[in-house]
Amino acid sequence: MAGIFFGILVEKKIVAANTILMKFVPSIPIFPKPGQFFLLSVKESRHFLKRPISIHYFYDETGYFKLLIRIKGDGTKEITSIKFHDELQFIGPLGNGFPMERNKKIAVIAGGIGIAPFPFLIKRLRKYNCSVDLYYGEASRKDLVEYWRITGINSFITTEDGSEGRKGNILSYFDCNEKKYDLIYACGPEGMYKAFKKRYSELSDITYISLERKMACGVGSCKGCQIKTKNGYKYVCSDGPVFRMDDL
Ligand SMILES: Cc1cc2nc3c(=O)[nH]c(=O)nc-3n(C[C@H](O)[C@H](O)[C@H](O)COP(=O)(O)OP(=O)(O)OC[C@H]3O[C@@H](n4cnc5c(N)ncnc54)[C@H](O)[C@@H]3O)c2cc1C
Ligand code: FES
Repeated sequence: MAGIFFGILVEKKIVAANTILMKFVPSIPIFPKPGQFFLLSVKESRHFLKRPISIHYFYDETGYFKLLIRIKGDGTKEITSIKFHDELQFIGPLGNGFPMERNKKIAVIAGGIGIAPFPFLIKRLRKYNCSVDLYYGEASRKDLVEYWRITGINSFITTEDGSEGRKGNILSYFDCNEKKYDLIYACGPEGMYKAFKKRYSELSDITYISLERKMACGVGSCKGCQIKTKNGYKYVCSDGPVFRMDDL
């Protein structure tokens, strides 16, 4: 259930170019699902709107959680500039999250900061006896969140400039394996979804995509994040952010 709470910063690391990993202790117990997100801001923010950020990792034992934030503009800069033991304001967990499955072969496709929700998801999928292959693409080596190499899952890495992994975009790796999976979970820029949909329309009914839109209320009342789907208008914040590809 969504709530309003504070989170105290207990760890902060730069893990790639303009990309900060932050660990928080929440002021109340939270019970998030992989793929859900928070709306967050510093306490006395210059910005009226809070920013949506996915739950990167959740520690079931302590209730602590991690965020992975790539600095885009002033909001993410303000959030990531807080110091050790400072607090952020959170609303959430919000949204539907990824569907959880047992004993399945799953491909996870991440484009850029689309990697953010997947460590939490992969942890849960492995607990439920799923095998997971991760396809992760970035523009260049400096953008790669490196610690992903040590998770013990199959990882396929691409960079557009060829400075790490295979040169090209992440779908070039996926091409050789697309028939192998029971389910596919994807998160990344709009261009990645469009290319995926065009190339793999036959996989639409097994593919789940986490969408990004600017948000205000986060609970389906302001209509700020409305999208048109095959089943009518929906809100990315409350009906999503995860949608089946064949609904889009
Ligand atoms: C459900 C959800 C989960 C997200 N999870 C993460 C996460 O875990 N880590 C992370 O780094 N980012 C995540 N984002 C994206 C993040 O919310 C935006 O980057 C952030 O709101 C930008 O705010 P800003 O003030 O820094 O930049 P702004 O000054 O608002 O914008 C800077 C640039 O980014 C563009 N932009 C801003 N917000 C979005 C958006 N939502 N979609 C597309 N373009 C946008 C603007 O048009 C502008 O060009 C998520 C977004 C959504 C909707
Ligand atoms: S952010 Fe208000 S309806 Fe989605």
